[in-house]
Amino acid sequence: MKIGIDKIGFATSNLYVDMTELAEARNVDPNKYLIGIGQSKMAVIPPSQDVVTLAASAASKILTADDKDQVELVLFATESGVDNSKSAAAYLSELLGLKANIRAIELKQACYGATAGLQLAKGHIALNPQSKVLVIGADIARYGLNTPGEPTQGGGAVALLVTANPRILALEEDASYLTKDIMDFWRPLGHMEALVDGKYSSNVYLDFFQEVFSAYQSKTGLQLQDFAALLFHLPYTKMGLKALRLAIGGADDQIATHLSHEFEAARSYNRQVGNLYTGSLYLSLLSLLENSDSLRAGQRLGLFSYGSGAEGEFYSGILQPGFERMLCGHAAALKARTKVSVAEYEQLYKAGLTLAADIDFDWQNDASAYVLTGIKANQRQYLAK
Ligand code: CAA
Repeated sequence: MKIGIDKIGFATSNLYVDMTELAEARNVDPNKYLIGIGQSKMAVIPPSQDVVTLAASAASKILTADDKDQVELVLFATESGVDNSKSAAAYLSELLGLKANIRAIELKQACYGATAGLQLAKGHIALNPQSKVLVIGADIARYGLNTPGEPTQGGGAVALLVTANPRILALEEDASYLTKDIMDFWRPLGHMEALVDGKYSSNVYLDFFQEVFSAYQSKTGLQLQDFAALLFHLPYTKMGLKALRLAIGGADDQIATHLSHEFEAARSYNRQVGNLYTGSLYLSLLSLLENSDSLRAGQRLGLFSYGSGAEGEFYSGILQPGFERMLCGHAAALKARTKVSVAEYEQLYKAGLTLAADIDFDWQNDASAYVLTGIKANQRQYLAK
């Protein structure tokens, strides 16, 4: 039985900051951000949005009434959780109007969480082929104003509907994975912003990629020419480019050129959104599917997932007949977002760091269908408009 991704939905806020303007405000050459980091725009998440509302927006784009009836498991991967105890999946299930007799939990392993969700979903579907699993990767990436990590922030959510006989990507066996206790990026309890050893984290990312890709190749015997495209977790798009260069170093020119061409399609959306941690690899998948000019059913995609702390996985999937019909296009929505100034971004950033027990947010000016209206007696107040 084939199991995999049947539908993909994506949502971010309708606000962004331009990376050239951010570079100028930080007295940095804009090409450092545009080329050196590989980002053009960065999503700005207002306080009336969090991982729950972003996930609700992403999931509501793909779920029909029948899907909602068949979802038996919600796996909500995030490292920007809104509660130390209650899962974001419980809030989300209510907002989406899912039935009550489901399992709904939160998963955490930095940016790897959504891949864990996808692989666990595969197991659930193998045992329950008639059911569907909703996997969410939703995060808000925050490093702090005026920090080296600042140009690699962003936010958003990807929703994956995992089913038997999927219509987009059937997952293959033989994934290779690796976990080590590493302090490259973490967010201790009580911190609203991540702590990171930036250069070290980038080096560990590359080491993990090489180790799991090489293990995958030894296990399967597959070579570069067996992949239509390689996809990467994209904390910033230059990071994936560095990994791709390692993969294609020494490869035949035609293969290297082809994989580099596909990588440009795969990083197009991420370049305009920034890091969404758990969702980044899957936004890149969506970007590839919607922007590539050469993908065909039956071809194999290779996916590298990395979560600091650290865990990495390389796995693959086969594009399914008619996958193009399952896509709705996100380029126009990304283009239609409103640009905010650096001063407005800084103000929204600071407002989003609140730990207040009672607060109202300015949700009336938030165009999203799902908003966080405020917090009352430490209880989050969500609204589906
Ligand atoms: N024109 C073109 N390129 C320029 C330039 C210019 N004028 N000025 C600098 N550059 C280039 C540099 O040469 C460098 O390129 P290479 O990496 O290819 O050498 C690049 O721009 C970045 O410059 P720096 O290395 O000087 O940048 P920095 O030290 O200020 O910060 C960073 C870079 C370490 C990635 C920082 O943004 C950071 O800490 N980010 C957060 C951590 C992160 O994203 N880590 C990734 C791996 S961890 C992970 O993947 C999990 C996750 O999601 C967090």
